[in-house]
Amino acid sequence: MINDVYILAIETSCDDTSVAILKNEKVLSNIVSSQKIHEIYGGVVPELASREHDRLIIPVIKKAINDSGINLIDIHAIAYTRGPGLLGSLLVGGSFAKSIALSLDVPLIEINHMQAHILSIFIDDNPEKPKFPFIALTVSGGHTQLVIVKGYEEFVEIGTTLDDAAGEAFDKSGKLMNLNYPAGPKIDKLASKGDFNRFEFPKPKVDDFNFSFSGLKTSFKNFISNKSPDFIRDNIHDICASLQFTIIDILLDKIIKVNNTYKINDFVVCGGVSANSFFRKKLKELERNTNIKTYVPKIDYSTDNAAMIGINGYFKFRNSSFSKFSDYSVSKYRV
Ligand code: KG4
Ligand code: ZN
Repeated sequence: MINDVYILAIETSCDDTSVAILKNEKVLSNIVSSQKIHEIYGGVVPELASREHDRLIIPVIKKAINDSGINLIDIHAIAYTRGPGLLGSLLVGGSFAKSIALSLDVPLIEINHMQAHILSIFIDDNPEKPKFPFIALTVSGGHTQLVIVKGYEEFVEIGTTLDDAAGEAFDKSGKLMNLNYPAGPKIDKLASKGDFNRFEFPKPKVDDFNFSFSGLKTSFKNFISNKSPDFIRDNIHDICASLQFTIIDILLDKIIKVNNTYKINDFVVCGGVSANSFFRKKLKELERNTNIKTYVPKIDYSTDNAAMIGINGYFKFRNSSFSKFSDYSVSKYRV
């Protein structure tokens, strides 16, 4: 039995090239290189993303090893994002992970990106950790999911988006206002000086635990197309605050609905959109007004990062959940 486990983790599912080194649940280094090349396109360009991962992966790995203070030879296993994500981007990280595991003769551990977002709450420098079972709301650029988490490897999805993801609602609306990709953090900042009661946007009527953001997107598109560039510029703070309020309200409504149905009080809220400052404030408010308790990872672990892949890798290492070098099946990971 190994006392201290050192994991090298690689995340390349979308537009962040990231490598982390963990000692058990503790992050020794977590290097994230966010690709700037997509900014002007209003979204991630898959072909450019894979090329950027290929360009950045070596310097990012070198820096992660350097900053961790350990040697590559000390690593017990390599964890990497197997999916979901952009195929070309995943292949860069996957190929590197396999090569390093093979050369060091250590196990390879494949990780589901969405499960990693959830388990990022267990990284040791997060202030509080939930107990199983809990509910996870994973809100990112590609996904919006509600999951019952029964254990480190037991996930039951109870809801997902029927169309766009919550992050996409931010990014696509931002594009309409000429905000560079990713627009989520920009809208967050602009909204902080705005009045969220100023404009009203529709909320979808989805009865179960699924989500829909396409109606809001269309309504926002119509709203913007009827306004002059001057109006948009002069009212940008109120527009962003009102839009943000609607997206966050849709998410909060679902948390309450799930809580009422499943009677589970602990909620982990994770993924890029959980970095939103208004959302974090509203979650605290929800805690004060209900018996719901929310756990949100530190900002560094909210948006894409390899530390979350590393913590998941650590739990899988303890469970000997290793992947076979010859297993190329993709169905489990919906790549
Ligand atoms: O989890 P993530 O980094 O990557 C994916 O797995 O997709 O999430 C990225 C998404 C983007 O849509 C981005 O606009 C959004 O998270 N995001 C935010 C904030 N920071 C990132 N949305 C709202 N407010 C933020 N502060
Ligand atoms: Zn993500």
